[in-house]
Amino acid sequence: MSFKLTPLPYPDTALDPAISAETLSFHHGKHHQAYLDKTNAAIKGTDHADASLEDVIAAARGTNQGLFNNAAQSYNHGFYWQSLAADSTSASDELTVMIDAAFGSTDDLKAKLADRGLGHFASGWVWLAEKDGKLSIEETHDGDTLADSDFNPLLVIDLWEHAYYLDHQNKRPAYLDAVINQKLNWAFASDNLARGTTWKYPA
Ligand SMILES: [Fe+2]
Repeated sequence: MSFKLTPLPYPDTALDPAISAETLSFHHGKHHQAYLDKTNAAIKGTDHADASLEDVIAAARGTNQGLFNNAAQSYNHGFYWQSLAADSTSASDELTVMIDAAFGSTDDLKAKLADRGLGHFASGWVWLAEKDGKLSIEETHDGDTLADSDFNPLLVIDLWEHAYYLDHQNKRPAYLDAVINQKLNWAFASDNLARGTTWKYPA
């Protein structure tokens, strides 16, 4: 199978000014596409040719770093586009109860997400995730992912500079503040929690 670029679930101007159309055009159209192209080239004609992206990631972890990086980045970006929303969204009652239990309140969760994202050294991802009925904030470095982990990822924020440099230059706090407070897709997080299994990259 050949993995395809998942279309943005909103117009490319919809996240501005948190994330501009120019950033999205490069980040989605160039970066995400390149990770997919490299994944597809690496699996063509191999035992992985018909595997799901999550199975490619699991098989490549620890055995083929180049393929792992590109497959995991392909997944992470597909998940990231869904983690953002043009309009204000709401968490389900189930998710809200779990947020309050784990973090105190949604505002406290947002503050902790910003702290963890700011404190993350260099490139990576900060996630809201669920495991065994509890929520936590997780970080993965570089291209690493929760796709093949025991966690059910609910939301993710890209911490690579390519996610924010055109809009916010080196000011990661400004990017995190805008995304966390204006553009996170709480409905997507709620759907992921209700489904109870890890989101799958579209085949
Ligand atoms: Fe990215």
